[in-house]
Amino acid sequence: MNCILRGVRVIDPLARRDAAGQDVWLSEGRIIAIYKHMGEGTLPVIDLTPPPGGTPVILCPGFIDIHTHLREPGDEGAETIHSGSQAAAAGGFTQIVAMANTVPPIDSPDRVKEATFRAVAASVQVLTGCALTKGLKGEELVDMEACAAAGAAAFSDDGRNGFSPRLLSEAIGRAVSLGRPVMIHPEDEEVLAQVNRVQGPVQRCSLRPVEAETRAIDYALRALAHAGKGHVHLQHVSSAAGVEMIRRAKEGGANVTAEATPHHLGMWLPFATEPQPAGLLKVNPPLRTDRDREALIQGLRDGVIDTVATDHAPHRVEEKALPYDRAAPGMIGLELALAVCITLGGMSGDWIPTLVDRLTIGPYRVLGKASGIREPRLRIGEAATCVLFDPEAEWTVEPAHLRSGSQNTPLLGARLHGRVLMTLVDGALVHHDRQRLPWPASAAGTETARG
Ligand code: NCD
Repeated sequence: MNCILRGVRVIDPLARRDAAGQDVWLSEGRIIAIYKHMGEGTLPVIDLTPPPGGTPVILCPGFIDIHTHLREPGDEGAETIHSGSQAAAAGGFTQIVAMANTVPPIDSPDRVKEATFRAVAASVQVLTGCALTKGLKGEELVDMEACAAAGAAAFSDDGRNGFSPRLLSEAIGRAVSLGRPVMIHPEDEEVLAQVNRVQGPVQRCSLRPVEAETRAIDYALRALAHAGKGHVHLQHVSSAAGVEMIRRAKEGGANVTAEATPHHLGMWLPFATEPQPAGLLKVNPPLRTDRDREALIQGLRDGVIDTVATDHAPHRVEEKALPYDRAAPGMIGLELALAVCITLGGMSGDWIPTLVDRLTIGPYRVLGKASGIREPRLRIGEAATCVLFDPEAEWTVEPAHLRSGSQNTPLLGARLHGRVLMTLVDGALVHHDRQRLPWPASAAGTETARG
């Protein structure tokens, strides 16, 4: 494309830039200039200026999701790297970290290499998450050094929490020199086994009390203290009690970071009533009360929660249609994250810069440079990795329009605000909503293909 986008609000948190009424000159995937008003000469102008008092369209660095489940290898019927990265692009995400709980799990240097290789052609940058323990069993650490050398961006047994605090503490210590975060799924499996009265796996058990979360957070914080160094990241925190523990730990100087998902920030139980099948509401950890949701939102606002992470968890229809107790947990999130935060989480208006921060530099800082994550920044003259979104645009969640290989969300048919208009990755146009952002043929240049 070769054009001027007129009347845009440009937000670039790392550059401390937030300016409305900007003209953005795009040429062949590069941002050539950003000015208050540009003499257009012969360039086509796409005028996005809002009406007086209206909300402008926003250009910012591409979003980063540090918690995505792609189902390749093992369950390509639910999601492939290709479909998942297209969903990411449609949601404005330009970099994602794929979790290791595939079949087989990514738990050795060879599997890390293979997963990284498979993702090379994806529409967005897919970083490889590596398991923390072999087979996600919690018994033996993976060869962390070799896995990092093979390309692992982070370590997580997400979906499982089977290790002892002692093993976790060793992992935290070893991760320091690798510069990779150790990410924890904070649901204590002993608590889950007890309340559900089961001997075997607890992933599909439906009783998941807050105590399972607080106990796991407590163990993770103890393990961090015992390691005496390092960093621990807590995934999908869901409760007010959990937020409070993290707040206190951070105040005490612990190097702990945390994420919250759009669904925990947006859908508390009384709202999310009776989708069909009921299993569509099932997710680990579960949706809790409005009080929990408000604590998460407050935590996100004041930085106790560092980042929004989708926990995009695609599942095949038949896995969700099972009786609630046996249905697979998880919901898709990449394409809905922005709109769920804005519409259901109430993060519009003066929230927007914070939301952009928590979708860009928040996750960037959690991962750290050594992970291979790229700095989320708008750079003049370089191939752009960015997203253009309209925080007000209203749309309906329609299964046929979702790019993900699965449609498991309780929000099918919902009317949401907040729509991604365009996503660029390394200058390639990986998503374009032609209906909401039509551009004249004269602006259409040569698009670089990716994915
Ligand atoms: C995740 C999945 O399906 O992989 N499901 C979920 O409910 N969040 C795994 C997990 O994080 O538990």
